[in-house]
Amino acid sequence: MTNEPLSPADQKKLAARFAIDDLVARGEIANGMKLGLGTGSTAMPAVARLAELLRSGSLSGIRAVATSFQTTIACEELGIPVFSLNSREIGGCLDLAIDGADEITPDKRLIKGGGAALLLEKIVAYNAARFVIVADASKAVPSIGVKFPLPVEVVAEARVSATRSLERLGAEVRLREGVRKAGPVVTDNGNLILDCLWKPGTAGARPFDPDEMESLINAVAGVVENGLFTRNVPAVYIARADGSVDRR
Ligand code: A5P
Repeated sequence: MTNEPLSPADQKKLAARFAIDDLVARGEIANGMKLGLGTGSTAMPAVARLAELLRSGSLSGIRAVATSFQTTIACEELGIPVFSLNSREIGGCLDLAIDGADEITPDKRLIKGGGAALLLEKIVAYNAARFVIVADASKAVPSIGVKFPLPVEVVAEARVSATRSLERLGAEVRLREGVRKAGPVVTDNGNLILDCLWKPGTAGARPFDPDEMESLINAVAGVVENGLFTRNVPAVYIARADGSVDRR
C-alpha cells in the first residue's frame, strides 16, 4: 500500500504541530513564556496546538501577543490569554515568535504579508529572542522578489507617490484589491497594500538584494512597513508531501 502525498493544507498542519511539539521538547517554548503568534493558514494550526497543550496542562502561564484580528479571534476562541506588546505583562519583548511565510530562501530571508498582516508580524518577529517559521514545501524557493509579490503597507494618502518611488526601485506595483469588498484591501491598521514584483529585465531593475531592499523601501515617505524579513533569521520547519519535516 502506498501513502498518498500530503496536500499543501496537510503539510501546513503537520509543520505547525510538529514545530510546537519540537519547540516544547527542546525547551524553546516553556511554561510562563511570552510568545508572538503569527497569522495565516499555517500559523493557525500552531495556535491550535498551543491551545491543546495549555488545555491538557502540558504547558502553563503562556502570555501571547497576536499579530492580527485573525489571531486575536483564534486566541479568544481557544482560550489563549492575549496581551498588547505594550502591556506590563509583555514589556515590549518576547521569548519566541512563530509564524508562516510566503517565500523562504536558502539563507532564510523571507517574504511575508500575503495575508496583509506584515506590520504587526514584523514588530513581533523583530522583538522576539527567537523566531520560528512553519511552512509547506512550496514556500522554499531559490530567490525572492520575482514570483510572489512583495507586500508594502502604505498610508492611503501616499498610494500614488509611493507607487512612483517603488517603480523607481524597479518594481511593478499593484494596489491589492479586496475580495467580497469593493475597492482596496484595508489592513488591520487602516492602511493599503501595494504588491510589488521585480521582474527580471524590467527597465531600471537592479539585482534584488532582500537585505538592502528592506531598508530602501522603508525609506520611501508614506511606507509603513514591507514584507521582507531579513533581520531576525528564523529556525524554519518545512513539511514535505512525503510526511517528513525538515528543521533548518
Ligand atoms: C500573513 O500576512 C502572512 O505573512 C502569512 O504568514 C503568510 O502569508 C503565510 O500564509 P499561509 O500560512 O496562509 O500560507
